[in-house]
Amino acid sequence: MKPKCVITLDLPKDIVAPLHSQFEVMAWAGADAMPEANLQDWLGDARGLLCALSTPITASVLARAAQLKVISTISVGVDHIDLAAASDAGIPVGHTPGVLVDSTADLAVGLMIAATRRIAEADRWMRTGQWSKGWQSDLLLGSDLSQATVGIVGLGPIGEATVRRLRGFGCGVLGWNRTPKTIEGVEMVDLDDLFARCDIVSLHTALTPETFQIASRNRLASMRAGATLINTGRGALVDEAALIEGLSSGRLKAGLDVFESEPLPADHPFLRQENAVLLPHVGSATLSTRMAMVTRAIENLRAGMSGQPLPFCANPEVYGLSE
Ligand code: DGY
Repeated sequence: MKPKCVITLDLPKDIVAPLHSQFEVMAWAGADAMPEANLQDWLGDARGLLCALSTPITASVLARAAQLKVISTISVGVDHIDLAAASDAGIPVGHTPGVLVDSTADLAVGLMIAATRRIAEADRWMRTGQWSKGWQSDLLLGSDLSQATVGIVGLGPIGEATVRRLRGFGCGVLGWNRTPKTIEGVEMVDLDDLFARCDIVSLHTALTPETFQIASRNRLASMRAGATLINTGRGALVDEAALIEGLSSGRLKAGLDVFESEPLPADHPFLRQENAVLLPHVGSATLSTRMAMVTRAIENLRAGMSGQPLPFCANPEVYGLSE
């Protein structure tokens, strides 16, 4: 009998087809994210799990997955997985570092320009028939990235790639990282200083208990009037209620690709903020990056299902290695 693997999302058939020769594949094809009850049911006798951000892999899911030998997520972030529970159960968790760095850094800079030059707002304005006077000297004025001081919170690969792009714009760059780091052209400062001194703050840390709401109410309140918050990391890095207050009062602007609750509910107050550019978690959404992520995730899945160490493992302690 072939070992069983569960896939929690509807992937293109040509990607999944090669797995059928080795494994019994059960793939969720529902329009909505796979419910926990179905996942628990399917995982009862499964050896492998291929998943993504839309399905939380909780301790209670794992408690029912007695045969599970590998969790492979099509993402670099693993905050949707109870990593401690997986490690306690000796299950390696595969993820996809590296391959989405450039796409995500591109999008972060895109959001900086979109928010500060009011691109989405201007597009809405045109489409609602408001352009009646031709060129106007004070129409939709924004601010220049070249004149900004940009703060990068988290100088991992995506943060560093964002810095490389910003060098081309000639702006000042401040940085903060959990562990000390020296990067050419970046003035390293403490987190409170970074929020208080920058015109744009861009979040690039992983979401962990330590980074939860790293953009706290106090730090958002300390930002310069007219400053912009960019988030391509995770929604819960931000105190969203405090950010909404800053946006509603007109004191802050934002470019957000991620939200604490995804999909964003249709009546969410973010949707009423003209000065926020909102995207549906598309930081890695280019064809080549998504292909590279899926390829890497399948490599992890195959390795784990055949008892080999995962090439890209988020909890190497399961092999007695430190991170
Ligand atoms: C990740 O891989 O963690 C990203 O958020 C998905 O785009």
